[in-house]
Amino acid sequence: MRILAANWKMHHGVEDTVRFFEAFRRHYRPLPGIATWVAPPFISIPKALEVRPQGVRIGAQNVHEEEKGAFTGEVSLPMLVELGVEFVIVGHSERRRLFCETDERIRKKLQRTLPVLPTILCVGETLEERRAGQAKAVVLSQVDAALEGIPQEHLSHLVIAYEPVWAIGTGVPATPEDARTMHRAIREHLLSRFGVEIPVLYGGSVKPQNAGDFARVPEVAGALIGGASLEAESFWAIHEVFHHAGV
Ligand code: PGA
Repeated sequence: MRILAANWKMHHGVEDTVRFFEAFRRHYRPLPGIATWVAPPFISIPKALEVRPQGVRIGAQNVHEEEKGAFTGEVSLPMLVELGVEFVIVGHSERRRLFCETDERIRKKLQRTLPVLPTILCVGETLEERRAGQAKAVVLSQVDAALEGIPQEHLSHLVIAYEPVWAIGTGVPATPEDARTMHRAIREHLLSRFGVEIPVLYGGSVKPQNAGDFARVPEVAGALIGGASLEAESFWAIHEVFHHAGV
């Protein structure tokens, strides 16, 4: 099963969410081997759960690691579960960079979410790190730091998204070869460390025009899509591309 996950970031309030799903319904049909996941902003989640076509999973872009308390502006996992949220994204590079999320906090979030909900853990190197030949080391150390102490039985909920920071929102995706190499490295690392196969999505400037390059790589278990997921047409077009690649 490949996953096509939309990360809307800070786009699409309630009205735009309704508009998106009205348009998406005109295209959507369940495709064999493809799962559709959408992560709207928190406030649009209830409406998304109401208007999504059956079969589309709705998730959150972030979650706080504590259950409750004096954490102004934050949202906890029990609150999301109460709403009916079906997956969460943890450790997106924008959270790491703009909101100072450390590996340690990301690990605490995963400790909270993995026993309960499918969780997309985002990892990825910066351009400087890639130029310095550190890409693989950085990514594997992010994976290790995030998963330290997590019992193996909770890993069935884990999905990793490899998102090179320099490819996010820039229009310059990784090459399919770079993605293949990194996805293989992550999968082999997790297999040897935990003995389990973990799906690895690619994220960073995935568009209908380049989705085929990734869809044809068997190590790519799907995509995490920002900009191109905001319009129903382009998000659906990426589905068609993956469907026709049929890997
Ligand atoms: P992008 O974002 O598709 O707009 O590059 C991807 C992401 O940040 O998940």
